[in-house]
This record gives sequence, C-alpha cells and structure tokens, in this order.
Amino acid sequence: MNAGIKTAYLAANGFEKALVQELDGVQAVHGRLILTDRPNVQPFWAQNVWQSPVLIPIHSISDAALKLKAIQRNWWLYSFHLHRRAKLIEEQLPHVSAKPVKFPSPLPKAPLGSWTLLDQNTLLASACCSSVFPNGEVLFAEDKKEPPNRAYLKLWEALTLAQQYPKPGEFCIDAGASPGGWTWVMQNLGAEVLSVDRSSLSPAVSRLPGVTFQKRDAFSLLPDEFANASQKVDWLFSDVVCYPEKLFDWVTPWLKSGLCDNFVCTLKFQGNADYEIAKKFAGLSHSQVVHLFHNKHELTWIRLKPVS
Ligand SMILES: C[S@@+](CC[C@H](N)C(=O)[O-])C[C@H]1O[C@@H](n2cnc3c(N)ncnc32)[C@H](O)[C@@H]1O
Repeated sequence: MNAGIKTAYLAANGFEKALVQELDGVQAVHGRLILTDRPNVQPFWAQNVWQSPVLIPIHSISDAALKLKAIQRNWWLYSFHLHRRAKLIEEQLPHVSAKPVKFPSPLPKAPLGSWTLLDQNTLLASACCSSVFPNGEVLFAEDKKEPPNRAYLKLWEALTLAQQYPKPGEFCIDAGASPGGWTWVMQNLGAEVLSVDRSSLSPAVSRLPGVTFQKRDAFSLLPDEFANASQKVDWLFSDVVCYPEKLFDWVTPWLKSGLCDNFVCTLKFQGNADYEIAKKFAGLSHSQVVHLFHNKHELTWIRLKPVS
C-alpha cells in the first residue's frame, strides 16, 4: 500500500478532511498525516509537506536512529501511534532545539526532516519539508503584556514566513483593526498606521505614536482617497470578519490602482465552505494563500512586492 508514496502532507489541526478533499491519489491517512502517490503540490490546508518521503525498514530502535542520522542531523517526529517506540527512537537522535521564536527573526537555516513510524519495522522519513519549523508549528516567544489580544501572532507568523516587514516610515492601512493586535505589530516595526474599524482600538494601542484611528466601514476605504492625497500605501492589511468574496471585490480596485505594494489579508470561512474563492486569491500575481499555524478556520492571502 505505501510503496508508491510520493508525498506526505501534515494537515493543520482539525482540517484533515479539508486537506483530503484537496488532494489526489490519497493512499492512506494516519492521524493528520496524509500519504499520496502524486508529486508534491502546495495545498491550502497542509501545515507541512513532506516532499520526498522514503520508506525505511528497521529492525530495532537503534537501527532506526542510525538510519535517520545517516541521512541528516535534524529530525522531527510526527507520532500517530506506537508512541513509546517512536519516543525511544527520538531519544537516540541528536537534540533539536525548538526554542520559541523571537519576533522578528530570520528563518532557521538548518534543514529539518520529518519522520514517523508507519509500523513496528518501517519508518517514513522525509529529509525535505516545506516548513523549516517542527511539524510546521511556528511557536513564538509571546508578549503577554502589550498586545491587546493574541491576533498579533498571525501577523508575526505571516511576516516571519515572508521575511518581509513594514519598515520605519512606511505607511500601512490596518482594516478591521480593533482591538489592535496587528496595529501594535506594525507600530512596533516603526511604521505609520491608519487603523480602521467599526469598533474602537484598545486605549493603549490608540495612544501609540504613529497610529491614527478612523471609526468607519473598512470597505469604504478605496485607493482614490489616497491617490488624491498623494499618499502611497506600502502595506494593506485586513483581518475584517467578512465573506472572502467581499474581500476580493474590495482588494480588486486596490490591485488595479497599483498604489499599494504589499497585501496581507485573512480569508475567513464558515461551516462547510467551498474554497473556490481561495483559488481566486491564489491565482492573483505574486500571491500565496496559506494556512498559518495561528489561523483558525481561516487562510491568509499574502501578496508582496517581489524583492529586486
Ligand atoms: C478578528 S477582529 C480583528 C482583530 C485585529 N486584527 C487585531 O489584531 O486586534 C475583526 C474585526 O473586523 C471588524 N469589522 C467587521 N466588519 C467590518 C467593516 N465592515 N468595517 C470595519 N471593521 C469591520 C470587527 O469590528 C472586528 O474588530
């Protein structure tokens, strides 16, 4: 059954079914790990893609560890059964530090492979994975004092994965900004922020230098208003709770205007959504649509100016 496995996908927590629906050639589902006999694609609901998995027969715990170490140093376990045996193998592998990530930080450079025990005597291991983080989980050293909520973690993750950040003096629009977690991130990076929401920002965020708040419908913000004021918009962020179709209609004139370089927007879904709209966002030039570790039933559309 597993002999023809070409790619394995680790689903985001709770999105195994959505991921299975996205994939062709599914051969087996082991917990959140989905094995296919097709070449690697980049589906929306995968948290990590094992790009070149190999089956490794093993005859003991130390044999398993030796065979993994012979491929490369750094490995991370995804365990769906045989937890004790897997743990014993893991203990014989070199230690991999999974310290919480400080923001902002460069991406880890060392390749991190993923492995699992398919049965007592067979490993599935991939030296090459889409995420450089353990099982695709970007765990940050959190700031529990300043941000008004935990939404800032989504933006930290999006910017960390992109390795591009609003710079001091750049102008950002934060649509659906209340209570202000994302605004706090942009302001901390030194950017000027226009925050827009129907609800107020937290008092602490609204007092930060460089933050201006407007209580209004985010969808009334159109590029002409800024073009007429000769105001370049470096980043357009949206975390507005709305149908993704509405968001698409709103960003379309922004894209056409050429006034804004960079977009990071959350696509929010409800119930058994179909994800056709996510494909429309992904089809926009220079775009990617990803499920961040810190996203819930959401995807994040990221479209950044190519770095020259
Ligand atoms: C998930 S919260 C945003 C959290 C925010 N990113 C943060 O970091 O604190 C979604 C926000 O969208 C706002 N919202 C929904 N519809 C809106 C609209 N049409 N115009 C402006 N804000 C809207 C809500 O008031 C809510 O504050």
